[in-house]
Amino acid sequence: MDALKAKSGLHETDAYIAGGYSSVVGMSSQFAAGICCGLLRIQTAAGVKGPVVEIGPFEGRFFIALAKSLSSGEIALGIDLFDWPNPEVQDRFAANCDKHGVPKDQRIIWKADSRVMKPDELLAKLGGTRPRFIHIDGEHSRKVLAGDLELATTVMDPAGILVLDDMLHPGYPTLMVAVHEYLERHPEMSVLAIIDRETIVAATKFVLCRKEWFKRYEDALLADYKDNVWPLGADFEPHWCLVLSLDTRLAAIT
Ligand SMILES: C[S@@+](CC[C@H](N)C(=O)[O-])C[C@H]1O[C@@H](n2cnc3c(N)ncnc32)[C@H](O)[C@@H]1O
Repeated sequence: MDALKAKSGLHETDAYIAGGYSSVVGMSSQFAAGICCGLLRIQTAAGVKGPVVEIGPFEGRFFIALAKSLSSGEIALGIDLFDWPNPEVQDRFAANCDKHGVPKDQRIIWKADSRVMKPDELLAKLGGTRPRFIHIDGEHSRKVLAGDLELATTVMDPAGILVLDDMLHPGYPTLMVAVHEYLERHPEMSVLAIIDRETIVAATKFVLCRKEWFKRYEDALLADYKDNVWPLGADFEPHWCLVLSLDTRLAAIT
């Protein structure tokens, strides 16, 4: 299977995903990066502007792809404890940004704990501009994901896209409980798409947005990634969403 089958459609971003991406230590898949950066392209075309935020950029693999997909004047904010597996991870993150073309004036590196972060503090880091895209990939516990989801939802632009990593992962089964509880608390939000995993490490991501943006983003994904649509979709009772995968086969029944 060709992970690069799903390109973002942004020249510099796709060159990074096909090249340097795998050399930056990290956990997100090339397939997910292509689609998520494609969503940034779709947002830009729709006139949606603003920064991107990642909770848990680690060494920057996914962060760099997002940052390279921004329009001029937009910035990327990376929030991390930067203490695992050692404090030098922050230097490696900055060096990776330099090496792969995310200049200092386009990035904010914030050593901070999302568990105690207030929405106003996050917005202040962005000069008050609401982010258009947030990737949540911090602590993988039900409680912390619930908190990160609330933080992200409070600060995000109404047209914003929220991406959650390591969904349906065999090692983190309780994250799904946090997502379903969140969807019950936030009927204004819906799951736009599921980006299937490449491997157990490069795991599945959920893409969420506000309901009023669902159709517009779904139409764009269907147009741009039709070869990756798994025909049966995902049942979120009562609504359905796209499943994007590198393997779109159905079970053979005859
Ligand atoms: C699995 S790694 C992220 C991988 C990266 N997003 C990628 O795609 O390659 C998880 C990161 O979340 C960070 N993290 C964990 N708990 C956090 C918290 N409470 N606040 C901020 N960052 C946190 C960790 O330090 C670690 O760097």
